[in-house]
Amino acid sequence: MHKQANFNILRIDASARREHSITRKLGDEVLRRLVQEHPEADVTVRDLADPVDFIDEQWVSANLTDPAARDAQQQAALTASDRLLAELDAADAIVLTTPVYNFSVPAVLKAWIDLVCRTRLSFRYTENGPVGLLRDRPVYLVMASGGVPFGSPADFASGYLRHIFAFIGIQDVRMVPAERTNSDAQASAGSALEKLEHWLPAGHVPATA
Ligand SMILES: Cc1cc2nc3c(=O)[nH]c(=O)nc-3n(C[C@H](O)[C@H](O)[C@H](O)COP(=O)(O)O)c2cc1C
Repeated sequence: MHKQANFNILRIDASARREHSITRKLGDEVLRRLVQEHPEADVTVRDLADPVDFIDEQWVSANLTDPAARDAQQQAALTASDRLLAELDAADAIVLTTPVYNFSVPAVLKAWIDLVCRTRLSFRYTENGPVGLLRDRPVYLVMASGGVPFGSPADFASGYLRHIFAFIGIQDVRMVPAERTNSDAQASAGSALEKLEHWLPAGHVPATA
């Protein structure tokens, strides 16, 4: 009999802070609840505090070359990008934790985005515009901002991330927002947890438990 493939969770962290990070702490709770729902889950952690490379000229040229025509150097230029995209593609649920930095996303997260948005693999352009090629799946988007309200004109982060996920085919973005952490971090995290209740209730006991 075939063993059913495990549920895969990909966790991506983007805060520069490893300690005292509100988004990482909230991410721990999201992950805890997800694993409670899926006790057999395989969890992959991609911590962008260990930054990924920026795309460069070689990467752009290799990416635009027909895969069958790529030489060894071009294949090597895409290896890290291939790995990151494979992690994303394999995930049945994604937990992305990120602060707002300078009204947008941290540069390390933008670097990751540049590596996973791959023509022919995660999106393609048609006569009717772009089509995302990844299957839809839930993204628990844990975000924190020191002062900027999410959805306000100065928030160039949350709408951008939703747009990027939709661009590659992922529509099911579940926002867990900690707003105005600079004023009252505890209240802000508490309000994010209230939002999380909607997606993953703390007291939920999975049917298989
Ligand atoms: C470099 C840097 C830039 C920031 N820029 C903004 C900003 O533009 N708008 C804002 O509301 N908060 C800004 N913040 C505040 C963070 O979003 C906030 O402190 C958040 O809680 C950080 O996430 P973390 O606790 O997971 O590290 C910035 C913080 C840092 C360190």
